[in-house]
Amino acid sequence: MAIRHFLSLLDLTPTELNNLLQRAIELKRQHKDGTSPQCLKNKVLGMIFEKSSTRTRVSFESAMAQCGGHAIFLSPKDTQLGRGEPVEDTARVLSGMVDAVCIRTYRQETIEKFAAYASIPVINALTDAHHPCQLLADIQTFIEYRGSIQGKRVAWIGDGFNMCNSFIHAAKQFDFELRIAAPKGYQPSESMLSEAEGRAELREDPNWAVENADLIVTDVWASMGQEDEQALRERIFAPYQVNAALMAKANPSALFMHCLPAHRGEEVTNEVIEGAQSVVWEEAANRLHAQKALLEFLLVTSQE
Ligand code: CP
Ligand code: NVA
Repeated sequence: MAIRHFLSLLDLTPTELNNLLQRAIELKRQHKDGTSPQCLKNKVLGMIFEKSSTRTRVSFESAMAQCGGHAIFLSPKDTQLGRGEPVEDTARVLSGMVDAVCIRTYRQETIEKFAAYASIPVINALTDAHHPCQLLADIQTFIEYRGSIQGKRVAWIGDGFNMCNSFIHAAKQFDFELRIAAPKGYQPSESMLSEAEGRAELREDPNWAVENADLIVTDVWASMGQEDEQALRERIFAPYQVNAALMAKANPSALFMHCLPAHRGEEVTNEVIEGAQSVVWEEAANRLHAQKALLEFLLVTSQE
C-alpha cells in the first residue's frame, strides 16, 4: 500500500474526507462514553514543532494516548534539526523509528521535502500556506450544528493567509460557496483561488462576503512570524473586524468560527466570540476527534 500524507486537504478525496468526518463524530461519541477504540495501539507519532502551539500539540498527543499509542514532541531547540541536520536526513531517520510525523513549520516546501524522503505518513500541523487539520475540525463542527456544508455560503473575513488557503481547498472538497473579503496586499493569490475550481470568490468588502452567509470565519491579523507587522496590520485590517454589526448582515442562523488563539478587540469583538452564534470551543475540542480519525485513516485504514 502506498503511503498517504496529509500536507493539504487535497491529499484526500472528497469521499475520504466525508467518511473521515463521520468517523470523527463517532470517535467523539465513543470518547464521551469512555469506549475509545485502541486503534492506534503501539503506534508512535513524532511531532516536530518549529512554532508555538496549544491546540494542535495537545490534541495530537491526547489522540495518540487515548487510542493506545504514544507521541514524542520534538522541538528544534532540543533536536539536531535545530542545529542544521537536513530535513531529508531527519525524515529518513524518523521513518525507521516512528509510525507517522506531524510537522508545524514555516514553508510548505519543508514538509513536502520531508514527505518526499519519508517512508511514513507526514501530516501538516500548520505551515504559512495551509492548516488542513484545523479545517477537519471546522467542517466537523459545522456538520454537527447544521448538517452538511455542501451548497452553504461561508464568509472568510481578514487575512488571506494559511487558514484562508485551507478554506479555499475546503470549498472545493466539501462543495460550498466561499466568499473571501480581504484587503489588497493580503489576499490569496490567483493561483490559490483557482484551486477552489470556481467555488471561491474574492472582494475587498466584508459586507458583501457576509450577505446570507451560513458561517463567518476569521483569524488573527498578524500570524506567527508576522509579529513585527502587528501595528501596520491593525490599521489595514480595522475595517475587517467581525463585530455584532457585521454578524447581523449574515443569515440569522450563521455560526461564527475562529481557529484560535483570538485577539479580542482586533479581528473579533468579545461580544461575538462569547456570543450565541460562536462555536469556537466546540471547534477547538473537535481538533481531538478529527485528528484521531485522521491518524486512524493514515496509519490503519489506508494501509489495509
Ligand atoms: N488553532 C491552532 O492550530 O491552535 P494552536 O496554534 O494552539 O495549535
Ligand atoms: N494564522 C495563524 C493560525 C494559528 C493557528 C498563524 O499562522 O499564526
